[in-house]
Amino acid sequence: MTSTRVAREPLIQRSLRKARRAFGPAGLFFKGFVKHPAMVGAIVPSSRRTIERVLSRVDWENTKLFVEYGPGVGTFCRPVLDKLRRDGTLIVIDTNPDFIDYLSRTIGDSRFIAVNGSAADVEEIIRAHGFEQADYVLSGLPFTNLPPGVGPAIMSATHRVLRQGGAFLVYQYTARARALMGQYFHRIDKGFEPVNVPPCVISWGWKD
Ligand SMILES: C[S@@+](CC[C@H](N)C(=O)[O-])C[C@H]1O[C@@H](n2cnc3c(N)ncnc32)[C@H](O)[C@@H]1O
Repeated sequence: MTSTRVAREPLIQRSLRKARRAFGPAGLFFKGFVKHPAMVGAIVPSSRRTIERVLSRVDWENTKLFVEYGPGVGTFCRPVLDKLRRDGTLIVIDTNPDFIDYLSRTIGDSRFIAVNGSAADVEEIIRAHGFEQADYVLSGLPFTNLPPGVGPAIMSATHRVLRQGGAFLVYQYTARARALMGQYFHRIDKGFEPVNVPPCVISWGWKD
């Protein structure tokens, strides 16, 4: 970058570029938060403890398709791929093209598909990749910040897309989304992970 361009670049953009370079994925995540605070809904990615706790209920042997909404910089993607069977598929869906571009460039695994789109379109998205149903859907979406109607549309599409016995795994920073979840999922197991910024409320909604 030339000194003229540096001089012209607004301070905020320069700081974001430096943060991104210095902190790698965490810098990109923070940049995403600054650009779209409501849609990203968190300043730092989920903790290792949250990841392990959320994934602890998955029956990996019987998981052919695992879907993730709002992967961000991929905090859950690698742990999911580590556990997923060799012929399984992980489809991740995020509205932020910067995150999808980053994930596509950095995760070189033939089982991994990153899609720039909305979780509300999960049925069309998995069908486009040859699937009718998902075994598990994981969500880090900030449900309480989504535009009106989007939360219910995502819950309803998720319930339809899951196979019988599958589950919707949701981690959130408040328990408010559980009321919405309860309209679609009649059996919800509840958990809490204090070692996360901020502490995290976990719900496993089962499709019985
Ligand atoms: C709290 S961040 C998730 C962070 C990440 N999964 C983690 O564990 O650190 C929420 C993510 O949801 C994405 N998002 C927001 N609305 C969405 C929607 N309707 N469909 C898919 N992704 C969405 C945002 O772009 C952001 O990447």
